[in-house]
Amino acid sequence: MPLVTSKEMFAKAYNGGYAIGAFNVNNMEIVQGITEACKEEHAPVILQVSKGARAYANHTYLIKLVEAAVIECPEIPMVLHLDHGPDFDTCKACIDGGFTSVMIDASSKPFEENIEITRRVVEYAHEHGVVVEAELGTLSGIEDEVKVQEGCASYTRPEEVEEFVTRTGCDSLAIAIGTSHGAYKFKPGTKPQLRFDVLHECEKRLPGFPIVLHGSSSVPQEYVNMINENGGAMPGAIGVPEDQLREAARSAVCKINIDSDLRLAMTGTIRKFFNEHPDKFDPREYLKPARANIKELVRHKLRDVLGCSGKA
Ligand code: G3H
Ligand code: 13P
Ligand code: ZN
Repeated sequence: MPLVTSKEMFAKAYNGGYAIGAFNVNNMEIVQGITEACKEEHAPVILQVSKGARAYANHTYLIKLVEAAVIECPEIPMVLHLDHGPDFDTCKACIDGGFTSVMIDASSKPFEENIEITRRVVEYAHEHGVVVEAELGTLSGIEDEVKVQEGCASYTRPEEVEEFVTRTGCDSLAIAIGTSHGAYKFKPGTKPQLRFDVLHECEKRLPGFPIVLHGSSSVPQEYVNMINENGGAMPGAIGVPEDQLREAARSAVCKINIDSDLRLAMTGTIRKFFNEHPDKFDPREYLKPARANIKELVRHKLRDVLGCSGKA
């Protein structure tokens, strides 16, 4: 099947008490690892491209890689999504280029300005059959190239969500409930805890409406250790506990964003390979196990965290 929008996917996920995995793609091995896992698990998927990914790989290469995955996995519903679209022009370029979903992230702007920018993107996207994710509230960590200091992050204010969704016409809403981007999400020694009270308040005010969680990597210690044992230095890397993500997936959260875990799996595997085989220099030899571990990681997410195995 051709690329789809997330509309039907989210409706099924909402009613079925599961979430769709939204995985960031930057190169061929990452696209292959993710989509091979989805094919084996019969899971729908969102492949998302950030501003940084477009700058690194070139938008056209990424679109063509995703088109190749569509050909290789014809039975899997796939969305091609712009992650953290910074402005109207970037969203427009992706809509014109064949993306089926875009995020406009004006969450760092004041409320009225966020509404204004989002509404403009929604208007253009809907005219072209593309859906739009918007964001209210800010996550700490790195929002694409925008660094948000921990102290400046703010939870979404539930009393604002209805007005925001009504006035913008967006199709899904990313909210801030304590997740953050990157591999250092909580202070070591503290108990990681998402604000489910904020999530449930938003959910109550937007019945039937899909909520999105960014910054949802779990930072598997297996890979942090693999990195640290093979010349890396990532002390205190901590992610969102998987049981909390499972709980979120059962609620109105229909899309869960994961990027850092893919990076950890790839980097850990390659570091270990280099350490064990200092004589090897064929990239295929180290990219192959890296791709295989990305696939295994994604399979685990689909089955045990998102609950979307068998939903394609
Ligand atoms: O939200 C951030 C994503 O992990 C994308 O990161 O801008 O480094 O590609 P990036
Ligand atoms: P992580 O850094 O937790 O993987 O979050 C990724 C993300 O939110 C992409 O938009
Ligand atoms: Zn994000």
